[in-house]
Amino acid sequence: MVPALPPDPPQAFPDLLAAFSYRERATRIDERNGIPCFTNEFWTSGQRKASRLHEVSYRACFKPQLPAFFIERLTRPDDAVYDPFMGRGTTPLQAALMGRRPVGSDINPLSAMLLAPRLAPPSLEEIAARLAEIPLSAPLPEGALLDDLRVFFHDSVLARLAALRAWFAARERSGALDPVDGWLRMVCLNRLTGHSPGFFSVYTMPPNQAVGADRQRLINAKRKQMPPPRDVDALILRKSRALLSQGKPPPHPPALLGTAPAENAGFVPDGSVDLVVTSPPFLDVVDYRTDNWLRCWFAGIDLETVPIAAHKTPEAWQAFVQASLRDIARTLRPGGYLAFEVGEVRSGKVLLEDHVVAAAGGLPLAVEGVMVNEQNFTKTANCWGVANNRKGTNTNRIVLMRKTDRPNGLHRSMTCPG
Ligand SMILES: C[S@@+](CC[C@H](N)C(=O)[O-])C[C@H]1O[C@@H](n2cnc3c(N)ncnc32)[C@H](O)[C@@H]1O
Repeated sequence: MVPALPPDPPQAFPDLLAAFSYRERATRIDERNGIPCFTNEFWTSGQRKASRLHEVSYRACFKPQLPAFFIERLTRPDDAVYDPFMGRGTTPLQAALMGRRPVGSDINPLSAMLLAPRLAPPSLEEIAARLAEIPLSAPLPEGALLDDLRVFFHDSVLARLAALRAWFAARERSGALDPVDGWLRMVCLNRLTGHSPGFFSVYTMPPNQAVGADRQRLINAKRKQMPPPRDVDALILRKSRALLSQGKPPPHPPALLGTAPAENAGFVPDGSVDLVVTSPPFLDVVDYRTDNWLRCWFAGIDLETVPIAAHKTPEAWQAFVQASLRDIARTLRPGGYLAFEVGEVRSGKVLLEDHVVAAAGGLPLAVEGVMVNEQNFTKTANCWGVANNRKGTNTNRIVLMRKTDRPNGLHRSMTCPG
């Protein structure tokens, strides 16, 4: 393995990828349409254990090792690292853990609720004391919503959840919601539903694949199960201890977090960002609305008012990506890097990375290459064919771009060194 490059001169980054080796395996370099593609095992989950503070599940989140790879090589302490589609906040949290300035946004307000408390956690004593202050139960919700909630939760659990939910809502309305409340709400959101007794619900899908009430009725019938009573407070404290077991993030510059569309995140100043590591929704593959309905109910978010992107056609998706890239380019300093991760969709028939490269056309972003993090070289790794995921290997495909001072006409900025 080669040591991390100092970030200056950043234009050497593609050379670093070309020279990278993992367990003596050299990077493979292919080229298509003049764009180099670097394939190697650039990061693995085992290489370096991620902080337990990341252990908040979210649909289609990436592993912390992915942003860590870029942050380590392309930024210095105190630099700003931004994710405009931050989900659970993997990129900004990793930035904070590495002493960088976390900058993050998502169109769903749920994201900031999941991230902000983990950037500045309270102590376990504060968490336990606040929990003891919150009234033990509150009246259950009514009507069809109650019928749906009872598919997941025992009435005693629902009464406690109703009390916690009412507390957070009242504290928010009065402006009194503090970091301890924020932490408790984040842990509750994380523990709502899941597939083990560590969650408040009866057995259901893992929390990153939450299901609707009708689907859960079928699961309950098939498994002949009823929602059991759970000790909600004990589960909150247990999860808090686990999240904090490796300590808090080190000192880092203050976070800048928002709830905004990636196409127009005006709260992030022009030219203020050193590195962007991000991953947008892939067409309409994940239904973030359905997945997050219970979390949004608990957090008091009306999902009807959140325009989460879901595009059926690659053309519509490309236009959305172009609008997002334009705003990302605005936030980047000259020479700053953008790592834009996409996944395999439509059984490999649509190559999203091609659409990202096309979307960068005309913007002040030079495409420096595509990186494929291929975690199993015993199977055939084909940079552009991608039969790998179906065979059980794990790939990330990342379009690497760099902020320039003129529009990109050629969609390329380097020649493939091999
Ligand atoms: C693939 S997930 C990102 C996951 C993230 N990398 C993580 O590790 O948690 C895509 C995210 O984009 C958000 N999103 C959808 N449309 C958006 C838009 N127009 N602007 C900003 N965020 C959007 C979704 O709410 C979702 O959280």
